[in-house]
Amino acid sequence: MQKNKKMQITSATFVISNTNYKKCPESDLMEFAFIGRSNVGKSSLINMLVNHKDLAKTSSKPGKTLLINHFLINEKFHIVDLPGYGYARASKTQRENLRKINEGYILFRPQLTNLFVLIDSRLEPQQIDLEFMEWLGENSVPFSIVFTKGDKQSSQKLTDNVEKYKTKLLETWETLPPIFITSSEKRLGKEEILNYIGQIVES
Ligand code: GTP
Ligand code: MG
Repeated sequence: MQKNKKMQITSATFVISNTNYKKCPESDLMEFAFIGRSNVGKSSLINMLVNHKDLAKTSSKPGKTLLINHFLINEKFHIVDLPGYGYARASKTQRENLRKINEGYILFRPQLTNLFVLIDSRLEPQQIDLEFMEWLGENSVPFSIVFTKGDKQSSQKLTDNVEKYKTKLLETWETLPPIFITSSEKRLGKEEILNYIGQIVES
């Protein structure tokens, strides 16, 4: 694929689920992982991107994804669905356990090429997300921001919220990461994210 050409999804298959990054696939393929607060829409976004209804398991209740899930896309790269963070009703031990799973994967998986941090577009900037992104910065983890559930508010409100978020980020960050605005329901933002991945995979 050449730069700026559209990426088409020709195949998407589930590979393996793990609790430990050490057991993730022995493969040199690049990995693009999705993380964010529980219930923010990570698994739904992955399904939207790869044209599947339920490749990644979704639920209206938070705490659905509890493992590191690898999906092989176009035989060329992996998409990784990660457990959510900040699920208030999980026990302290469960939350600690999930934190370790995610941290291990993020810090010690060299195949991780870009982490998409999902943010609910309806909410004011949340401390837990801001702190998580600061932690990524401290550890030099490349990330992008994906605003989710864009269909759940008017387009004006959506634009206002994203602008507010950018202003908040610029209080601590010199530059902004790539930002995507999406709705899995309305299938918005799909091409932008796929083309972004495509450019990195083909570069
Ligand atoms: P965990 O695995 O529990 O951390 O959650 P997750 O981030 O993977 O969220 P998931 O994709 O399971 O979606 C959570 C709920 O939000 C489900 O009921 C989805 O149908 C809904 N949802 C996700 N994305 C969108 C969206 O873009 N628009 C709307 N309206 N609903 C969405
Ligand atoms: Mg999930």
